[in-house]
Amino acid sequence: VVASARATLRFAAVVSAVLGIVVAVTAAALAPRIARNVELERKRHVLAAIGEDVPRALLASRYQEIVRDDIVVLAGTPYPVHRVVDDHDRTRAYCVPIEGAGLWGPIRGYLALDADATRVLGVTFHEHRETPGLGAQIEDRSWTGRWVGKSIVDERGGLAQLRVVRGARPDDPHAVDAISGATITSRAVESLVQRGLERYRPFLEERWRRR
Ligand SMILES: Cc1cc2nc3c(=O)[nH]c(=O)nc-3n(C[C@H](O)[C@H](O)[C@H](O)COP(=O)(O)O)c2cc1C
Repeated sequence: VVASARATLRFAAVVSAVLGIVVAVTAAALAPRIARNVELERKRHVLAAIGEDVPRALLASRYQEIVRDDIVVLAGTPYPVHRVVDDHDRTRAYCVPIEGAGLWGPIRGYLALDADATRVLGVTFHEHRETPGLGAQIEDRSWTGRWVGKSIVDERGGLAQLRVVRGARPDDPHAVDAISGATITSRAVESLVQRGLERYRPFLEERWRRR
């Protein structure tokens, strides 16, 4: 009986060791592909923020063609700016990452601005854990589309406060209609967009002066 128990344990040990190795090797082998897919998703959202819906097979080449990944140093800290250029290498948009806490987890996305850095070209959210049907509507174009055309410059020429409120009219330059039933997510997005704009404020103000 002792010998057979020992054999069973040895068998179990060998099986777990072999399976452990299989899982580790598979995970290691897939890691580069996963990283590549995450990077492709990121590119898809940068392009979506400027209104380009690019098929997966063309994502990498389209991104390389029109997006320049720059770094700007603001108050001593480097931040990414994805600059979108036209055929003559003239800037036609700036796309900056935005992030903050949502109801159930972090929300990460992109905010795209026109060449003057005064108007919103679009927003996208590529990472969030909000509830499907409620907060998760932040990824639907029917909601992100409400941001298009909003002005980030107020009447006095300073950085505007963009509000996400119930019943905001589409032609309100600084307010976006909130998601009904998802007030918490709507507030979270309002504050993460505002913090993103604040972070890039010196960069934006420089663009406004050049107008
Ligand atoms: C299981 C569950 C998931 C929820 N998920 C979200 C969510 O993702 N985003 C959100 O803002 N509210 C969510 N809520 C609702 C909030 O708790 C709250 O009721 C809601 O934000 C009120 O919105 P309203 O004032 O627009 O009706 C969820 C509620 C429950 C019970």
